[in-house]
Amino acid sequence: SKNTVFDNYGRPVTSLRIQLNAICNFNCFFCHMEGTERNMSFLTPENIEKIVEVAASHGVNKVKFTGGEPTLRNDILEIIRRTRKHINGSISMTTNGVLLPILAVKLKDAGLDRVNISMHSNDDYTFEKITNVRRDYLDTVKRGIQAANNAGLTPVKVNFVVLKGINEDQIDSMINFCAKNHAILQLIEFETSRGRENSGDYLKYHVSLEPIEEKIKKRSIYMERNELHNRERYILNTLDGEVKVEFVKPMHNKDFCKHCTRLRVTADGNFKTCLLRENDYFNIKDKLNNQRSLDEEFIKAVKNRIPYWR
Ligand code: 5AD
Ligand code: SF4
Repeated sequence: SKNTVFDNYGRPVTSLRIQLNAICNFNCFFCHMEGTERNMSFLTPENIEKIVEVAASHGVNKVKFTGGEPTLRNDILEIIRRTRKHINGSISMTTNGVLLPILAVKLKDAGLDRVNISMHSNDDYTFEKITNVRRDYLDTVKRGIQAANNAGLTPVKVNFVVLKGINEDQIDSMINFCAKNHAILQLIEFETSRGRENSGDYLKYHVSLEPIEEKIKKRSIYMERNELHNRERYILNTLDGEVKVEFVKPMHNKDFCKHCTRLRVTADGNFKTCLLRENDYFNIKDKLNNQRSLDEEFIKAVKNRIPYWR
C-alpha cells in the first residue's frame, strides 16, 4: 500500500499482534505472556476496531490475536467480526485449545482464518507438569485440534516449546501426532527478553534447536522456503502420511528480526515495537477518540522499531 510505514532498517509493518488479555486458564511455568505482567483488558471491541482500521490504512493486512488466552474473552466473536471488516489477509489466533471444542465453528463463522494451538507435551503427566492443570485437559486440547480442523481453521499449527529435561524427548511423538491430526508442527525455542539470558529458568530449560533442526533436515523428503521469515519448512514422511515441521528460533537466528513485519498491541493499550525488547511502549490509551493522533502514534511506533538482533 502507498501508505505503508517503514522503520529506519527498511522494515515495513504489515502485521498486527493484538494481546487480548493477560490471563489464562493454564499456568505454564515458562510462560512470558507475550511480555506483559500487567493484567488488564483495556481493549474493547470498539477500540480494537479503531486500531485495526488505522493500521489497515497503513498497509497492515494480517492480524494475530494472542494473550494470555484470547478465548477467555466473552466478546471474542465481536472482536473478530470487527477486525474482519478491515483486514483482507489472514486473521489468526494463538490459543491453548481447551475451548476450541465449543468455539471453533463460531470463531470460523466470525471470520477467523486459522489457529496456532499450544501443546507442549503429548503425554498427560508432562502436560500437567508444564501447564499446572489437570492432566485430563490434554484430551480436551487434542479434541480442540480436531475441532479446529473440522471447522476449517486451517492450516492448524501446533506450537511446541522445546524444554530441556521436560519434553525434548517428545519431538518424534509430536511429529507422529501432527501427521495423524493434519497439523503443522512448530518447534519453538524457549525465549527470554534482553538481559535475562542468565536467569535461572533460561539456563535450566533453554535448548538450542540447531542440532534438532539438522536431524529433521536429514529426515525430510523436501523443504519449502519462507523468504519472509528466512526459514525452511521441512516435509517428513510418516506412517500416517506427510507432516510439515517449522522452527522458530528467536534467540539464535540473526535473521529473526531482519524481516520482522510485526507491531504489537498490548492488553493495557500500548503499541510495543518488539517482543524481546522492554521499554519500547507507545501509549495509545488517550488517543483512541481521535483518529488523527492514533494515526500519528502508529507511525511513531513503527518508525521507532529497532531490531533485537542487528
Ligand atoms: N518461550 C517460548 N515460547 C513461549 N510461549 C510462551 N512463553 C514462551 C517462552 N518463554 C509460547 C506459548 C505459545 C506461543 C505464543 O508462545 O506457549 O505457544
Ligand atoms: Fe501461557 Fe499459553 Fe500456557 Fe496460557 S497456555 S499459560 S498463555 S503458554
